[in-house]
Amino acid sequence: VTATVPEDPAPDAHLAALRGARCVVTGGLGFIGSNLVHALHAAGAHVAVVDALVPRHGGHRRNLEGLPTVEAGATPNGSVGPDDAVELTIAELDDVAAVTPVVDGADVIFNLAGQVSHLDSMTDPVRDLDLNARTHLGFLELVRRTRPEARIVHTSTRQVYGRPRYLPIDEAHPTEPVDVNGIAKLAGEQLHLLYGRVHDLPVCALRLTNVYGPRQRLLGDAQGFLPIFVRRALQGEPITVYGEGEQLRDCLHVDDVVAALVAAAVVPDVVGEICNLGHPEPASLGRIAALVVAAVADAGGPVGAVVSVPWPAERARIDVGSTTCDSSKAKRLLGWEPSIDLATGLHRTVAFYREHGWYLSST
Ligand SMILES: NC(=O)c1ccc[n+]([C@@H]2O[C@H](COP(=O)([O-])OP(=O)(O)OC[C@H]3O[C@@H](n4cnc5c(N)ncnc54)[C@H](O)[C@@H]3O)[C@@H](O)[C@H]2O)c1
Repeated sequence: VTATVPEDPAPDAHLAALRGARCVVTGGLGFIGSNLVHALHAAGAHVAVVDALVPRHGGHRRNLEGLPTVEAGATPNGSVGPDDAVELTIAELDDVAAVTPVVDGADVIFNLAGQVSHLDSMTDPVRDLDLNARTHLGFLELVRRTRPEARIVHTSTRQVYGRPRYLPIDEAHPTEPVDVNGIAKLAGEQLHLLYGRVHDLPVCALRLTNVYGPRQRLLGDAQGFLPIFVRRALQGEPITVYGEGEQLRDCLHVDDVVAALVAAAVVPDVVGEICNLGHPEPASLGRIAALVVAAVADAGGPVGAVVSVPWPAERARIDVGSTTCDSSKAKRLLGWEPSIDLATGLHRTVAFYREHGWYLSST
């Protein structure tokens, strides 16, 4: 499954290259994973999901609503379902008995399973290391034995850089994470790169900035700021920003992330590489909050407000200050650039949640 970077980058061409390919998506019931599954399925790929449905994470079966699915082991005689059904395996990544048959025959593995909460990583650090690193090592071993030729795309995070020494952050910036999540994600990422170098697995890693869009878990306050902002605005509650809300963030709509993941699965030159995925137009947290409020009001929802509150100690301890990513390497290697500006992306996001209200009430 290979394609060259088109002169005029066309995400559809990369997706088309995966038609008929067997694509495994770990974390495929979660936010980014489920959006990827929808895109791959629409493009005619055979999709198999591995997800442990970790409690309080973003995984939910309803994220695949609208797609035919078949659960591994659902019937005594093996799974049956329509030919284009998405196969579901509810298991931890390193469950050899459950996951080996899924990986067997895979052309591409999108390894998105992970825990995203920085706060949770500080209250339950061993669990974070387990979900973001140890199970990934078990998974890499399983892939090495079963399907070493499968292309692997790992989702890492810009959190691995820690507090920026300069902006925008490029891939040469030192990695000095400020929380357990950053350390565990860095370990998971580096294990992938190591298996590429030592065992010749065709791997690459993408370091994502803050992502927003449809199918993100909105409930709870332990995750990143974007789903909290969106939920509060949709529920007519004021959005709280810490301090003056001046820290810069570059936010990516999930469709842009999906386009990069797909490109990373088919473009040859990215093998063995790490690429940042950021947005060239950063905004302050206060401005982002105001844009969320405006998007909800424009859609006929409540007219909300943004209020400043003092920094909670547990957040201040692990805050990285202003941060923005330089994505020129992704542009060079993948032909990728984000195409969705924040205001447009937030309007699309709000429209989705107004249509799918269960994200505001379901657990
Ligand atoms: N959302 C963001 O802003 C963001 C930013 C940077 C990086 N990332 C990375 O992108 C990936 C996807 O994030 P998301 O926002 O979709 O999170 P999510 O919580 O919505 O989805 C993650 C999914 O992975 C599953 N999972 C976690 N650990 C597992 C394991 N060991 N075995 C099997 N399943 C497991 C969970 O059940 C969940 O469904 C993660 O690796 C995350 O670190 C996300």
